[in-house]
Amino acid sequence: MALKKLVAGNWKMHGLSSDLAEIQAIADASRQYPQVDVALCVPAIMIERAARTVPGFPIGGQDVHYSEKGAHTGCTSAQMLLDAGAVLTIVGHSERRDSQRETDAEVKAKAEAALSCGLSVILCVGESLEVREQGKAVETAIAQLDASLPETMEGEGELAVAYEPIWAIGTGKVPTTSEIAEIHGAIRRCLLERYGAGGEQVRILYGGSVKPSNAAEIFSVEDVDGALVGGASLKTADFIPIVEAAAGIS
Ligand code: PGA
Repeated sequence: MALKKLVAGNWKMHGLSSDLAEIQAIADASRQYPQVDVALCVPAIMIERAARTVPGFPIGGQDVHYSEKGAHTGCTSAQMLLDAGAVLTIVGHSERRDSQRETDAEVKAKAEAALSCGLSVILCVGESLEVREQGKAVETAIAQLDASLPETMEGEGELAVAYEPIWAIGTGKVPTTSEIAEIHGAIRRCLLERYGAGGEQVRILYGGSVKPSNAAEIFSVEDVDGALVGGASLKTADFIPIVEAAAGIS
């Protein structure tokens, strides 16, 4: 059974007040495609302004702390994200796993904290180029997933997994459709093992250099239930054609 596709933008460290008009334009345009779920994950400091600008359009964070509150300078809790107007958050993005040295156990705790508060979660996994060249992409991504997945899917939030090969992020390089199919199939099996039939409902997104020119081909791959889009989510003119491709229009 095909799941409704989710196309989520990851704005990373981009976004000032002057960009709220772009968020408005993306939200307005995406309303023409109700057959696709569309969301934008913006910097934490921008969530409240973005959510006020586009009521009803899903705005998310890019990270969350696993504690409810406490002495964690510079961090943001799940309750704070919700309070600011977010309805989802990314966890375990490779840029954080690398630069902030986030471990699988921390990513799992973050996902559990967010889901239990009612935030939906996009949990990222993916291998480095070195690992891919060693022929260990599948086992590495699955080991990472197995150790990062929440124990249960309890909570109001919905879980999605994003497969993001590190070597494809921001580089213009994209795995072949058969490479994507191989990993997404393995992720699906891992989800079924963990959650039983509930694992069928977890959307598996592909992320890494998704563009208007390659989106339709990527969305045609089995078990690709959407995309996590970085650079091409910053401008309506790039992002909406990807949403259109998810809707099966282009
Ligand atoms: P990209 O980033 O689309 O710019 O490659 C994707 C991501 O890191 O989520």
